[in-house]
Amino acid sequence: MLTQDQLKREVAKKALEYVPDNAIIGVGTGSTVNLFIEELATIKGRVKGAVSSSNASTERLKAHGIPVYDLNTVDELPVYIDGADEINHYLHMLKGGGGALTREKIVAAAADQYICIADEKKYVEMLGEFPLPIEVVPMARSFVARALVRLGGHPELREGFVTDNGNIILDVHGLKIAKPVELEETLNQIAGVVTNGLFAKRRADVLLLGRQNGVDVLK
Ligand code: A5P
Repeated sequence: MLTQDQLKREVAKKALEYVPDNAIIGVGTGSTVNLFIEELATIKGRVKGAVSSSNASTERLKAHGIPVYDLNTVDELPVYIDGADEINHYLHMLKGGGGALTREKIVAAAADQYICIADEKKYVEMLGEFPLPIEVVPMARSFVARALVRLGGHPELREGFVTDNGNIILDVHGLKIAKPVELEETLNQIAGVVTNGLFAKRRADVLLLGRQNGVDVLK
């Protein structure tokens, strides 16, 4: 029986097959991506570099000798490789458990293909069991929280956490997300919301799902 960490390692290795030669690739954030960065370091001779979605991943990439580029200087990003907190069979994702959702959404939007790497625990029928992270401008905290309650959620301030962009995170409990695309759009309309953790409009293109009997490739 493989552990969750071993499953994460398997998908991290498999993701190397999606890294084009001499390209700059987008790199996400989280424990699965940390393993991917280690794997990427083993083929760094054929990688030009990365655009990173967080300060944490930037440090790790640099520590492994992988050049990190500013997105503004990059014309082409063939792939973005990142994890998810939850993913459904339409490959809609709920992300942001690590608090890096805004930069993740930007780099994902700029990339041609999103390759999601996840272990089987992340694969769910309906999104929303994992609290939905929302990055909010600090002065809008109470206003946004009230709007989230009206939508049926129970927002909770992530105590002591400041995003890479200087904002706060509200983790919203109790949402049954039957229509992820619609909810993503609705949340984006609330003044003060910087980014919400639904990645549905721009979903994953490929899911590498780590299972006990191997890595499934879902599209
Ligand atoms: C970071 O903000 C998140 O979106 C991560 O991509 C997500 O939480 C997956 O993280 P793990 O690989 O640690 O589960």
